[in-house]
Amino acid sequence: MLSWMLDPEVGANLGLTRQPTLEKTRAWIEKALQGESIWPYAIFLKATHVGNVVLDQADAHLRSARFSVYVGAREARGSGVGLTGMYYALGKWFLDRDLNKVWLTVHALNAPAIRAYSALGFQVEGVLRDGFLLNGERLPALYMGLLRDDFLKLETEQ
Ligand SMILES: CC(C)(COP(=O)(O)OP(=O)(O)OC[C@H]1O[C@@H](n2cnc3c(N)ncnc32)[C@H](O)[C@@H]1OP(=O)(O)O)[C@@H](O)C(=O)NCCC(=O)NCCS
Repeated sequence: MLSWMLDPEVGANLGLTRQPTLEKTRAWIEKALQGESIWPYAIFLKATHVGNVVLDQADAHLRSARFSVYVGAREARGSGVGLTGMYYALGKWFLDRDLNKVWLTVHALNAPAIRAYSALGFQVEGVLRDGFLLNGERLPALYMGLLRDDFLKLETEQ
C-alpha cells in the first residue's frame, strides 16, 4: 500500500497533503481494521490485492459518508477492475449499513475516475473552484454524490 501511495498517479490524484510513510500506512491499516471510523474493502484481481475502496467521514445524522478509491497496482488500472470493485463495495455498503448517501470530490482532469463514478450513478452536485492542487496547479474539483435509491435503481435496471 505504501508503494501505491508513493506512485504520483495515486498520491497526487487522491490529493495527499503529506508524504506517505510506512508508519502512517501501518497506522491507517490498524485504524481501518477496527472498522469504526473507516470502512474499507480490498479490491482483488486474480487473488492479488490491487487496490482499496473506502468510506470514511461518516455522518450518523445525515446517514452519509465520504467515498474514495484507488487501484494502486499500475498494471491493473484501466481493465475495469476499479469500476467493478466500486460497484460491489457500494452494493455491500448500501445493503449492510444504514446509509442514504455517499459523496466524494475529484479533480476535473481525472477522466477515468469521473467516468467510473458517472457510470455508477454519481451526479455532479457542484464545482469547487480552485478546489484541488495537482502538482502545484490549482484545478476545479467536482463534488459528486450518489443516493442509495439511485444506486438501487441502477442495479435493478441491469
Ligand atoms: C480511478 C480508478 C480507481 C479507476 O479504476 P480503473 O480500474 O483504472 O478504471 P476502469 O478500468 O474500471 O474504468 C473506469 C472508466 O474509466 C475509463 N478509463 C479508464 N482509463 C482511462 C483513461 N486513461 N482515460 C480516460 N478514461 C479511462 C474506462 O473506459 C471506464 O469508463 P467506461 O466504463 O465508460 O468505458 C483508477 O484509475 C485509479 O486508481 N486511479 C488513481 C487513483 C485515483 O485517481 N483515485 C480516484 C481519486 S478521486
